[in-house]
Amino acid sequence: MLAMLPDLQEGARLVTFDVVPWTEIEECLLLPEDFADGRLAQVIADVGDAQQAPRHADLIRAADLVFVDAAKDGQLERRILANFDAIGLKDGAIVVFDDIRVWNMLDIWRGIKRPKLDLTSFGHYSGTGLIDWTGPAES
Ligand SMILES: C[S@@+](CC[C@H](N)C(=O)[O-])C[C@H]1O[C@@H](n2cnc3c(N)ncnc32)[C@H](O)[C@@H]1O
Repeated sequence: MLAMLPDLQEGARLVTFDVVPWTEIEECLLLPEDFADGRLAQVIADVGDAQQAPRHADLIRAADLVFVDAAKDGQLERRILANFDAIGLKDGAIVVFDDIRVWNMLDIWRGIKRPKLDLTSFGHYSGTGLIDWTGPAES
């Protein structure tokens, strides 16, 4: 998040979904000034929950880039993808999936039928994947 913030295009926004407010995390690297100009915002919601995620459908559908870096418990990311499917992302949206080489994530990553690219060699050792969300899905 902090790496993306300085390079946001003019007029762009960066919204992070989390389950715990950043103000409640000890030694959090975020500072109040990071939110001062309104380009960065935090929404507290479980995006893996089929009732909660649709409440943020307009925001999720407006995103050009969605970076998924959550629990890696073998279930949550599957639910997040199902919720994105139900909500529908915007045309041309790219989903960056973090940690695709983590054991719990292998099956989820391999099961994605949309056009996707394993960028681990350019990302970090635990895996980085790109999904072309609106590209043609394999049957
Ligand atoms: C490894 S951190 C990633 C932080 C962020 N990507 C960054 O780079 O600053 C994982 C984050 O996932 C969030 N998270 C975990 N489960 C979630 C859920 N079900 N819905 C929304 N956020 C969730 C947690 O709040 C935590 O901040």
